Amino acid sequence: SMGSERVQFLVEEKGLRHIPQTFLRPPEERPSLAHDAFSHRHAIPLIDLNALDGERRGQIREQMGKACQEWGIFHILNHGVPSAVIDDIRNAAVQFFRLPMQEKLQYACKAGAMASEGYGNKMLVKDEQVQDWRDYFDHHTLPLSRRNPSNWPKNPTFYRAAIENYSNEMLYLAKRLLAVISESLGLDKSYIENAIGEPYQNISINYYPPCPQPDLTLGFQSHSDMGAITLLMQDDVGGLQIFKDGEWIAVKPVPNALVVNLCDQIQILSNGKYRSVEHRAVVNTGRARMSIATFYDPSKDIRISPAPELTDDEHPPLYREVLYRDHVSTFYSRGPDGKGVLESLL
Ligand code: SIN
Ligand code: FE2
Repeated sequence: SMGSERVQFLVEEKGLRHIPQTFLRPPEERPSLAHDAFSHRHAIPLIDLNALDGERRGQIREQMGKACQEWGIFHILNHGVPSAVIDDIRNAAVQFFRLPMQEKLQYACKAGAMASEGYGNKMLVKDEQVQDWRDYFDHHTLPLSRRNPSNWPKNPTFYRAAIENYSNEMLYLAKRLLAVISESLGLDKSYIENAIGEPYQNISINYYPPCPQPDLTLGFQSHSDMGAITLLMQDDVGGLQIFKDGEWIAVKPVPNALVVNLCDQIQILSNGKYRSVEHRAVVNTGRARMSIATFYDPSKDIRISPAPELTDDEHPPLYREVLYRDHVSTFYSRGPDGKGVLESLL
């Protein structure tokens, strides 16, 4: 794969003043809201997990259920992830993206392959797709049978350990959250975890270089995540936006908080009571932005359908049973246009 395709190369080596045609979004997809237009009126819910396993569980369950129903996205504070683990992965990521292009390209992912591990910039198979203003490094972290740290950067030296430690913390936290979410639906606390089965976990580091014309392109086009739950760490630059009630809303970065995204499989399992959040990322002229997304997904052979406990004559199943492999291949073949992937599987 060629380094000249990477967005960082375009910006740093070529010093472009205009974005290339392949990044140009059709007018209706261009961001109407600048990356820093944070709206306090619309702040996403902020849930403090302090005493989750103690006296505040009932209260937190209620807050989370409401956030899942109304937003599909919320911030969590006091999530228990040690700050050293967060600092390490952030620093590792920053240092990796500062390496010379030639060194980064040693880890180039396979072009045109679905969700291939490594350093890339083109997520999709379709050639005519508008490109995102984004480079990324995707790591296959779980199950351990998919994990091969020799595919990950060896520079800086603490990089691989940082990914492994972060993977452990994200697994533990995702399971804690899924337990509360299950309970909030009136299900057994292990219901969603059992329905998903052995989790596939990927950690994707997104790197969005500054952009000379951020009003004409997107860092990450509109989509909902396919799996069960995504834990997202964003830096202080800002750029994440969600689509709610007919408008785009900026998700203002909150220091020390993590963003929790509900994904399509929870929408299916909950029979539409909870919704996956439609989101995108916008870019800006001034500062590179980094975000780290950790996905908790089913394996490709898992079939997901609405929980029978949540359906009856008055609430018939809204979704048919879907093989997760089909969901994923739809995403990669047709492209993630908003929530179109989920809707195409109804
Ligand atoms: C993502 O949707 O995975 C990335 C969003 C972001 O960079 O904030
Ligand atoms: Fe996403």
